[in-house]
Amino acid sequence: MRVLVTGGAGYVGSVSVEALVAAGHDVLVLDDLSRGHRDALPGGVRLVEGSYGDPAIVGQLLANTPVDAVLHCAARSLVGESVSDPALYYRENVAGGVAFLEVLREAGVRRLVFSSTAAVYGTPASVPIREDAVLAPINPYGETKRTFEGALRWYAAAYGLRSVSLRYFNVAGASGRNGEVHAPETHLIPNVLAAAEGRAALTVFGIDYPTPDGTCIRDYLHVEDLARAHLLALEATSPGDRVGVGAGALAINLGNGGGFSVREVLAAAETVVGRPIPHAFGERRAGDPPVLVADAGRAGEILGWRAQHRDIVEIVASAWAWRQAHPDGYRA
Ligand code: UFG
Repeated sequence: MRVLVTGGAGYVGSVSVEALVAAGHDVLVLDDLSRGHRDALPGGVRLVEGSYGDPAIVGQLLANTPVDAVLHCAARSLVGESVSDPALYYRENVAGGVAFLEVLREAGVRRLVFSSTAAVYGTPASVPIREDAVLAPINPYGETKRTFEGALRWYAAAYGLRSVSLRYFNVAGASGRNGEVHAPETHLIPNVLAAAEGRAALTVFGIDYPTPDGTCIRDYLHVEDLARAHLLALEATSPGDRVGVGAGALAINLGNGGGFSVREVLAAAETVVGRPIPHAFGERRAGDPPVLVADAGRAGEILGWRAQHRDIVEIVASAWAWRQAHPDGYRA
Protein backbone atom coordinates (compact mmCIF):
# COMPACT_ATOMS: atom_id res chain seq x y z
CA MET A 1 0.00 0.00 0.00
CA ARG A 2 1.05 3.61 -0.34
CA VAL A 3 1.36 5.28 3.07
CA LEU A 4 1.76 8.94 3.91
CA VAL A 5 3.83 9.33 7.10
CA THR A 6 3.63 12.71 8.80
CA GLY A 7 6.66 13.39 10.97
CA GLY A 8 8.50 10.67 9.07
CA ALA A 9 11.85 12.37 9.59
CA GLY A 10 11.46 12.34 13.38
CA TYR A 11 12.55 9.67 15.86
CA VAL A 12 9.48 7.42 15.91
CA GLY A 13 8.45 8.33 12.36
CA SER A 14 11.78 7.51 10.77
CA VAL A 15 12.04 4.05 12.34
CA SER A 16 8.46 3.40 11.22
CA VAL A 17 9.37 4.50 7.69
CA GLU A 18 12.22 1.98 7.76
CA ALA A 19 9.79 -0.79 8.76
CA LEU A 20 7.25 0.17 6.10
CA VAL A 21 9.89 0.23 3.37
CA ALA A 22 11.28 -3.11 4.55
CA ALA A 23 7.77 -4.58 4.31
CA GLY A 24 7.53 -3.46 0.69
CA HIS A 25 5.20 -0.49 1.09
CA ASP A 26 5.44 2.70 -0.91
CA VAL A 27 6.17 5.51 1.55
CA LEU A 28 5.75 9.24 1.24
CA VAL A 29 6.91 11.50 4.08
CA LEU A 30 5.46 14.87 5.04
CA ASP A 31 7.69 16.68 7.53
CA ASP A 32 8.45 20.35 8.08
CA LEU A 33 11.91 19.41 9.44
CA SER A 34 11.35 21.68 12.44
CA ARG A 35 12.51 18.79 14.60
CA GLY A 36 13.03 15.99 12.08
CA HIS A 37 16.19 15.21 10.15
CA ARG A 38 16.46 14.76 6.40
CA ASP A 39 19.26 12.25 6.98
CA ALA A 40 16.91 10.01 8.96
CA LEU A 41 15.11 8.97 5.76
CA PRO A 42 16.28 5.95 3.78
CA GLY A 43 17.27 6.62 0.19
CA GLY A 44 14.39 6.51 -2.26
CA VAL A 45 11.75 7.75 0.18
CA ARG A 46 10.18 10.95 -1.06
CA LEU A 47 10.04 13.85 1.38
CA VAL A 48 7.55 16.69 1.03
CA GLU A 49 8.72 19.51 3.23
CA GLY A 50 5.78 21.16 4.93
CA SER A 51 3.22 20.98 7.69
CA TYR A 52 0.31 18.55 7.95
CA GLY A 53 -1.69 21.54 9.19
CA ASP A 54 -1.32 23.35 5.86
CA PRO A 55 -4.32 22.36 3.69
CA ALA A 56 -2.75 23.72 0.49
CA ILE A 57 0.34 21.54 0.83
CA VAL A 58 -1.55 18.42 1.90
CA GLY A 59 -4.24 18.90 -0.75
CA GLN A 60 -1.67 19.27 -3.48
CA LEU A 61 0.32 16.30 -2.22
CA LEU A 62 -2.72 14.02 -2.20
CA ALA A 63 -3.89 15.25 -5.59
CA ASN A 64 -0.50 14.39 -7.08
CA THR A 65 0.01 11.16 -5.16
CA PRO A 66 -3.12 9.44 -3.81
CA VAL A 67 -2.42 7.34 -0.72
CA ASP A 68 -4.15 4.30 0.79
CA ALA A 69 -3.47 5.15 4.42
CA VAL A 70 -1.86 7.69 6.73
CA LEU A 71 0.47 7.26 9.68
CA HIS A 72 0.15 10.52 11.62
CA CYS A 73 3.25 10.84 13.82
CA ALA A 74 3.90 14.58 13.54
CA ALA A 75 2.96 16.64 16.58
CA ARG A 76 4.32 18.74 19.37
CA SER A 77 5.26 16.31 22.11
CA LEU A 78 7.01 17.92 25.07
CA VAL A 79 5.07 17.86 28.31
CA GLY A 80 6.87 20.83 29.89
CA GLU A 81 6.56 22.97 26.78
CA SER A 82 2.85 22.17 26.58
CA VAL A 83 2.34 23.52 30.10
CA SER A 84 4.20 26.76 29.40
CA ASP A 85 2.74 27.26 25.90
CA PRO A 86 -0.62 25.45 25.61
CA ALA A 87 -1.63 27.66 22.66
CA LEU A 88 1.10 26.04 20.57
CA TYR A 89 -0.25 22.58 21.40
CA TYR A 90 -3.85 23.47 20.65
CA ARG A 91 -2.83 25.24 17.44
CA GLU A 92 -0.70 22.40 16.08
CA ASN A 93 -1.97 19.16 17.62
CA VAL A 94 -5.68 20.08 17.59
CA ALA A 95 -6.33 22.84 15.02
CA GLY A 96 -3.62 21.59 12.66
CA GLY A 97 -4.72 18.01 13.20
CA VAL A 98 -8.36 18.74 12.40
CA ALA A 99 -7.37 20.76 9.31
CA PHE A 100 -5.40 17.69 8.23
CA LEU A 101 -8.39 15.39 8.78
CA GLU A 102 -10.51 17.72 6.69
CA VAL A 103 -8.17 17.45 3.71
CA LEU A 104 -8.00 13.65 4.14
CA ARG A 105 -11.79 13.51 4.14
CA GLU A 106 -12.04 15.59 0.96
CA ALA A 107 -9.42 13.38 -0.69
CA GLY A 108 -11.26 10.22 0.31
CA VAL A 109 -8.52 8.85 2.58
CA ARG A 110 -10.28 6.56 5.08
CA ARG A 111 -7.45 4.82 6.94
CA LEU A 112 -5.33 6.42 9.63
CA VAL A 113 -3.00 5.36 12.44
CA PHE A 114 -2.37 8.02 15.07
CA SER A 115 0.57 8.44 17.44
CA SER A 116 -1.16 8.91 20.78
CA THR A 117 0.34 8.69 24.24
CA ALA A 118 0.03 7.30 27.74
CA ALA A 119 -0.26 10.95 28.77
CA VAL A 120 -3.99 10.71 27.93
CA TYR A 121 -4.44 8.77 31.19
CA GLY A 122 -2.90 11.36 33.50
CA THR A 123 -2.22 9.84 36.90
CA PRO A 124 -3.95 6.46 36.67
CA ALA A 125 -6.04 5.06 39.51
CA SER A 126 -4.45 1.63 39.01
CA VAL A 127 -1.69 -0.03 36.99
CA PRO A 128 -1.19 -1.75 34.63
CA ILE A 129 -3.34 0.67 32.68
CA ARG A 130 -6.05 -0.66 30.37
CA GLU A 131 -7.46 1.27 27.44
CA ASP A 132 -10.82 1.64 29.16
CA ALA A 133 -9.24 3.50 32.10
CA VAL A 134 -10.51 7.02 32.67
CA LEU A 135 -8.81 9.55 30.41
CA ALA A 136 -7.76 12.42 32.66
CA PRO A 137 -4.68 14.10 31.21
CA ILE A 138 -2.75 16.38 33.54
CA ASN A 139 -1.02 18.49 30.90
CA PRO A 140 -1.97 20.14 27.58
CA TYR A 141 0.13 17.61 25.64
CA GLY A 142 -2.02 14.70 26.84
CA GLU A 143 -5.19 16.77 26.58
CA THR A 144 -4.56 17.68 22.93
CA LYS A 145 -3.84 14.03 22.06
CA ARG A 146 -7.06 12.98 23.79
CA THR A 147 -8.97 15.66 21.88
CA PHE A 148 -7.68 14.37 18.56
CA GLU A 149 -8.56 10.79 19.53
CA GLY A 150 -12.08 12.07 20.20
CA ALA A 151 -12.28 13.59 16.73
CA LEU A 152 -11.25 10.24 15.24
CA ARG A 153 -14.12 8.49 17.05
CA TRP A 154 -16.73 10.91 15.74
CA TYR A 155 -15.25 10.93 12.24
CA ALA A 156 -15.47 7.15 12.21
CA ALA A 157 -19.19 7.24 12.88
CA ALA A 158 -20.01 10.10 10.52
CA TYR A 159 -17.51 9.76 7.68
CA GLY A 160 -16.29 6.18 7.80
CA LEU A 161 -12.71 7.03 8.80
CA ARG A 162 -11.12 3.83 10.16
CA SER A 163 -8.41 4.58 12.69
CA VAL A 164 -6.19 3.15 15.36
CA SER A 165 -4.79 5.45 18.06
CA LEU A 166 -1.65 3.89 19.45
CA ARG A 167 -1.02 5.06 23.00
CA TYR A 168 2.74 4.86 23.39
CA PHE A 169 4.33 4.48 26.76
CA ASN A 170 8.08 5.33 26.99
CA VAL A 171 9.65 4.91 23.59
CA ALA A 172 13.38 4.20 23.72
CA GLY A 173 16.28 2.57 21.91
CA ALA A 174 17.37 2.88 18.30
CA SER A 175 17.41 1.04 15.01
CA GLY A 176 20.75 0.65 13.28
CA ARG A 177 19.97 3.68 11.17
CA ASN A 178 17.97 5.99 13.41
CA GLY A 179 18.06 7.06 17.02
CA GLU A 180 16.81 9.64 19.45
CA VAL A 181 17.99 13.23 19.12
CA HIS A 182 15.84 15.94 20.65
CA ALA A 183 16.78 19.52 21.40
CA PRO A 184 16.20 20.10 24.21
CA GLU A 185 16.47 16.51 25.44
CA THR A 186 14.26 15.72 28.41
CA HIS A 187 14.01 11.91 28.25
CA LEU A 188 15.70 9.67 30.75
CA ILE A 189 17.72 7.27 28.59
CA PRO A 190 19.36 9.90 26.32
CA ASN A 191 20.10 11.99 29.41
CA VAL A 192 21.70 9.03 31.18
CA LEU A 193 23.83 8.26 28.12
CA ALA A 194 24.82 11.93 27.70
CA ALA A 195 26.03 11.82 31.32
CA ALA A 196 28.02 8.66 30.53
CA GLU A 197 29.66 10.58 27.67
CA GLY A 198 30.48 13.47 29.98
CA ARG A 199 28.31 15.81 27.92
CA ALA A 200 25.69 16.68 30.52
CA ALA A 201 24.98 16.34 34.22
CA LEU A 202 22.29 13.83 35.16
CA THR A 203 19.75 14.44 37.88
CA VAL A 204 17.45 11.70 39.15
CA PHE A 205 14.15 13.49 39.73
CA GLY A 206 12.84 12.28 43.07
CA ILE A 207 13.84 9.34 45.25
CA ASP A 208 10.87 9.46 47.62
CA TYR A 209 8.15 7.99 45.41
CA PRO A 210 5.99 5.14 46.73
CA THR A 211 7.89 2.54 44.67
CA PRO A 212 10.30 -0.19 45.85
CA ASP A 213 13.43 1.91 45.28
CA GLY A 214 11.82 5.35 45.60
CA THR A 215 12.20 6.34 41.92
CA CYS A 216 9.52 6.47 39.22
CA ILE A 217 8.67 3.37 37.22
CA ARG A 218 8.04 3.55 33.48
CA ASP A 219 7.28 1.09 30.70
CA TYR A 220 10.15 1.37 28.17
CA LEU A 221 9.31 0.23 24.68
CA HIS A 222 11.85 -0.36 21.95
CA VAL A 223 11.26 1.92 18.97
CA GLU A 224 11.51 -1.04 16.55
CA ASP A 225 8.72 -2.83 18.41
CA LEU A 226 6.72 0.35 18.05
CA ALA A 227 7.44 0.49 14.33
CA ARG A 228 6.20 -3.08 13.93
CA ALA A 229 2.98 -2.16 15.73
CA HIS A 230 2.44 0.72 13.30
CA LEU A 231 2.63 -1.67 10.40
CA LEU A 232 0.13 -4.07 11.97
CA ALA A 233 -2.22 -1.24 12.88
CA LEU A 234 -2.12 0.14 9.33
CA GLU A 235 -2.99 -3.30 7.99
CA ALA A 236 -5.81 -3.58 10.50
CA THR A 237 -7.50 -0.45 9.14
CA SER A 238 -8.17 -2.06 5.78
CA PRO A 239 -11.90 -2.46 5.05
CA GLY A 240 -13.35 -5.63 6.47
CA ASP A 241 -10.22 -6.45 8.45
CA ARG A 242 -10.34 -8.27 11.81
CA VAL A 243 -10.52 -5.93 14.70
CA GLY A 244 -13.78 -4.19 14.25
CA VAL A 245 -11.48 -1.33 13.27
CA GLY A 246 -13.41 -1.75 10.07
CA ALA A 247 -16.27 -0.23 12.02
CA GLY A 248 -14.54 2.70 13.51
CA ALA A 249 -11.88 3.98 15.82
CA LEU A 250 -9.88 1.97 18.28
CA ALA A 251 -7.30 2.90 20.92
CA ILE A 252 -4.50 0.47 21.73
CA ASN A 253 -1.78 0.71 24.37
CA LEU A 254 1.78 -0.07 23.34
CA GLY A 255 4.09 -1.03 26.14
CA ASN A 256 6.52 -3.64 27.28
CA GLY A 257 4.02 -4.83 29.88
CA GLY A 258 6.65 -4.39 32.56
CA GLY A 259 8.19 -1.41 34.28
CA PHE A 260 11.67 -0.27 35.22
CA SER A 261 12.57 2.33 37.80
CA VAL A 262 14.91 5.25 37.11
CA ARG A 263 17.54 3.52 39.26
CA GLU A 264 17.13 0.31 37.25
CA VAL A 265 17.58 2.21 33.99
CA LEU A 266 20.69 3.83 35.38
CA ALA A 267 22.07 0.46 36.48
CA ALA A 268 21.30 -1.02 33.04
CA ALA A 269 23.14 1.88 31.39
CA GLU A 270 26.14 1.34 33.68
CA THR A 271 26.19 -2.30 32.58
CA VAL A 272 26.05 -1.23 28.93
CA VAL A 273 28.78 1.41 29.10
CA GLY A 274 30.87 -0.62 31.54
CA ARG A 275 31.50 2.12 34.09
CA PRO A 276 29.69 4.14 36.75
CA ILE A 277 27.65 7.05 35.43
CA PRO A 278 27.87 10.25 37.49
CA HIS A 279 24.51 11.47 38.76
CA ALA A 280 22.89 13.57 41.44
CA PHE A 281 19.60 13.16 43.24
CA GLY A 282 17.19 16.06 42.91
CA GLU A 283 13.63 17.10 43.64
CA ARG A 284 10.65 15.47 41.97
CA ARG A 285 9.84 16.84 38.51
CA ALA A 286 6.37 18.42 38.42
CA GLY A 287 3.67 16.22 36.89
CA ASP A 288 5.50 12.86 37.08
CA PRO A 289 3.16 10.03 38.21
CA PRO A 290 4.98 7.38 40.31
CA VAL A 291 4.17 4.40 38.05
CA LEU A 292 3.06 4.19 34.40
CA VAL A 293 2.88 0.67 33.03
CA ALA A 294 0.68 -0.52 30.17
CA ASP A 295 -1.65 -3.44 30.02
CA ALA A 296 -0.72 -4.33 26.46
CA GLY A 297 -3.21 -7.18 26.17
CA ARG A 298 -5.38 -5.52 23.55
CA ALA A 299 -2.42 -5.06 21.20
CA GLY A 300 -1.86 -8.81 21.46
CA GLU A 301 -5.50 -9.76 20.93
CA ILE A 302 -6.25 -7.38 18.09
CA LEU A 303 -2.95 -6.83 16.30
CA GLY A 304 -1.13 -10.01 17.29
CA TRP A 305 1.61 -7.71 18.62
CA ARG A 306 3.84 -8.18 21.61
CA ALA A 307 7.04 -6.33 22.48
CA GLN A 308 10.04 -8.44 21.54
CA HIS A 309 12.82 -6.31 23.04
CA ARG A 310 11.79 -6.52 26.67
CA ASP A 311 15.15 -6.44 28.37
CA ILE A 312 16.10 -2.94 29.54
CA VAL A 313 19.82 -3.65 29.05
CA GLU A 314 19.13 -4.54 25.41
CA ILE A 315 17.01 -1.43 24.88
CA VAL A 316 19.66 0.86 26.39
CA ALA A 317 22.42 -0.96 24.49
CA SER A 318 20.75 -0.17 21.16
CA ALA A 319 20.54 3.53 22.09
CA TRP A 320 24.18 3.48 23.15
CA ALA A 321 25.32 1.75 19.95
CA TRP A 322 23.55 4.39 17.87
CA ARG A 323 25.14 7.24 19.82
CA GLN A 324 28.57 5.67 19.46
CA ALA A 325 28.07 5.43 15.70
CA HIS A 326 26.64 8.99 15.49
CA PRO A 327 28.59 11.09 18.00
CA ASP A 328 27.28 14.29 16.44
CA GLY A 329 23.73 13.04 15.90
CA TYR A 330 22.35 13.87 12.47
CA ARG A 331 24.38 16.19 10.30
CA ALA A 332 21.48 17.95 8.60
N1 UFG B 1 13.96 11.41 34.65
C1 UFG B 1 15.03 11.70 35.48
N2 UFG B 1 16.04 12.47 34.97
C2 UFG B 1 16.04 12.95 33.70
C3 UFG B 1 14.95 12.64 32.86
C4 UFG B 1 13.93 11.86 33.37
O1 UFG B 1 15.06 11.29 36.64
O2 UFG B 1 16.99 13.65 33.31
C5 UFG B 1 12.88 10.56 35.17
C6 UFG B 1 11.53 11.25 35.12
O3 UFG B 1 11.33 12.01 36.28
C7 UFG B 1 10.59 10.05 34.98
C8 UFG B 1 11.40 9.03 34.19
O4 UFG B 1 12.76 9.44 34.32
O5 UFG B 1 10.34 9.52 36.25
C9 UFG B 1 11.04 8.99 32.73
O6 UFG B 1 11.06 10.31 32.22
P1 UFG B 1 10.99 10.65 30.67
O7 UFG B 1 11.07 12.13 30.55
O8 UFG B 1 11.99 9.84 29.93
O9 UFG B 1 9.57 10.13 30.21
P2 UFG B 1 8.11 10.47 30.80
O10 UFG B 1 7.64 9.25 31.49
O11 UFG B 1 8.06 11.71 31.56
O12 UFG B 1 7.33 10.79 29.46
C10 UFG B 1 6.93 9.82 28.55
C11 UFG B 1 6.89 10.41 27.16
C12 UFG B 1 5.89 11.51 27.10
C13 UFG B 1 4.56 10.98 27.56
C14 UFG B 1 4.67 10.32 28.90
C15 UFG B 1 3.40 9.65 29.26
O13 UFG B 1 8.15 10.89 26.82
O14 UFG B 1 5.77 11.98 25.78
O15 UFG B 1 5.67 9.34 28.90
O16 UFG B 1 3.12 9.91 30.57
F1 UFG B 1 3.69 11.99 27.65
